[in-house]
Amino acid sequence: MCGIVGYIGDKNCVPILINGLKRLEYRGYDSAGIGILQDKKSLVVKNKGKVSFLEDRIENLSLNSNIGIAHTRWATHGIPNEQNAHPHTNHDHSIFIIHNGIIENYAVIKKSLLNQGYKFNSETDSEVLVHMIDGFIKNGNDLQKSVQLALNEVEGTYGLAVIYSNEPDKIVAARKGSPLVVGLGDNENFIASDVSAILAHTKQVVYLEDGEVALITKNSFSAKTIYDKEIQKEVHEITMTLEEIDKGGYPHFMLKEIMEQPETVRNSIRGRIVLDHGTVKLGGLIDVVDSLVEKKRIIITACGTSWHSGLVGEYMIEQFCRIPTEVEYASEFRYRNPIVSKDDAIFFVSQSGETADTLAALREAKMKGALVLGICNVVGSSIARETNAGVYTHAGPEIGVASTKAFTSQLVVLALITLLIARRKNLSQVDGKNLAEELLKIPEKIEAILKLNDKIEQIAEKFKDSSNFLYLGRGYNFPVALEGALKLKEISYIHAEGYPAAEMKHGPIALIDENMPAIFIAPKDSTYDKIISNIQEVKARGGKIIAIANEDDDDIDNLVDFSIKIPQTIRMLMPILTVIPLQLLAYHIAVKKGLNVDQPRNLAKSVTVE
Ligand code: F6R
Repeated sequence: MCGIVGYIGDKNCVPILINGLKRLEYRGYDSAGIGILQDKKSLVVKNKGKVSFLEDRIENLSLNSNIGIAHTRWATHGIPNEQNAHPHTNHDHSIFIIHNGIIENYAVIKKSLLNQGYKFNSETDSEVLVHMIDGFIKNGNDLQKSVQLALNEVEGTYGLAVIYSNEPDKIVAARKGSPLVVGLGDNENFIASDVSAILAHTKQVVYLEDGEVALITKNSFSAKTIYDKEIQKEVHEITMTLEEIDKGGYPHFMLKEIMEQPETVRNSIRGRIVLDHGTVKLGGLIDVVDSLVEKKRIIITACGTSWHSGLVGEYMIEQFCRIPTEVEYASEFRYRNPIVSKDDAIFFVSQSGETADTLAALREAKMKGALVLGICNVVGSSIARETNAGVYTHAGPEIGVASTKAFTSQLVVLALITLLIARRKNLSQVDGKNLAEELLKIPEKIEAILKLNDKIEQIAEKFKDSSNFLYLGRGYNFPVALEGALKLKEISYIHAEGYPAAEMKHGPIALIDENMPAIFIAPKDSTYDKIISNIQEVKARGGKIIAIANEDDDDIDNLVDFSIKIPQTIRMLMPILTVIPLQLLAYHIAVKKGLNVDQPRNLAKSVTVE
């Protein structure tokens, strides 16, 4: 999604802003722009396409300024082109603004501004903001006050930063529903939509909350609400390091993040298992665990890959805790007036912690009195802050747009939560200990699977030209089939469907022929024999079959074209292993097709619009 970075201080802001934008590229975007004050005059350069193109364009312009803002745009209103790229300027270019989010009532505002004689240069919703601010400044208000007044009139979401050439020593920034963080330095301050953009310069940050407007100079920071109430903000120290957000020698972030999973899973488990008691300790849930175990129902709400981990969580919680559990798309939950009460606990699962639909669903559930709990990766994110309690996944920064290590860490956290609740209910100490021991063995089993990378790459070579895939699994591995299919379509643009294997004969079997590869997730569990029957059905119709099977399963090789053999674990933890070959397969197919794996077309890392 759109990215924001801003600088004010003693240094030349241009390289700082360009490098900041490069750090934000992973979020997905289609145009980029920069706006600075040079000799107190505004200078805006923007274009469709990559930040590197913007960098080339400004190379010979000798830009030098100590105040500026820059933006990557992910188109919502208006096609990706130079006019629609940010910053947007007012008529005399004295004000320029960058904006993330959507101004929902922009059409009404635009009409009124057109009636007042304002001219528009873009098709964006964002441009109304700069003309509104212009109007309030003309009426005698300063920049911060004008931003406050403008934001009082808009509906929708925003993370924004504005500069005004007549007040050349300040950046005004505001947030509602779209993350924004202020970075504090020595005689310099920063603004960013994501800490990774400014991490090279400072670790001291202030998170803006919804409805807050910040005034940033080179050596001061203050904030007010849009209703002009002063607010005291807390300064946080970022623990993330620059190395963590670099590629570490891998050709793509996605591969690095797949390969990191033994370590990220270890980090998700670390310090949380109390082996002797066969239970877990989750600091983030201590205050709510008594109430959590008494709940009559658990709902898990999320989007995309996080929704898939929620589906696995449903199987875990119902099997071990015997609490009825439902999984909902956040986008559906938020609008259907869900029946929710204080007897429910609702988990909101989100890597970014900023997904607009998940955040809105959380607010709806909170308003209806449910216990709202977060499972987030990004520390200090909106969902993490707005839930009553929660558990961090500790997967570290995930930069590749396609989620990989965040998924496996979510599964680990869901397993830990299951164990916590189950031990308070019916699970014995011995069974709890067995489960915990199995969990502790998962990282080395992932290491063994990652050694199959070359073999999986060879399989990818054989299938890279297929135009459709079916992914089939049962029980705990049905959500893995969905996740495998999502990974493939996201980064290789190949159509893929995930199904519960038994559903195949209720429709999708009609698609099977020699051109339709079917990927079966077939570990040895209680439904193994059934899945073998499904494999036979595909084979009988000439379909090509890849199976994810257990190491000791020699028989399956007589039935399938290719097999990827992985270690065994208990049923509930199997998805943490079975998904890894599917991540690698999707990765290699996309690379072989010459596609941009880390920034697939049309996708954004953190979906902060509806
Ligand atoms: C898939 C993917 C998306 C996200 C979804 C939710 O690879 O990345 O489907 O899982 O947009 O994002 P979070 O987890 O940040 O709420």
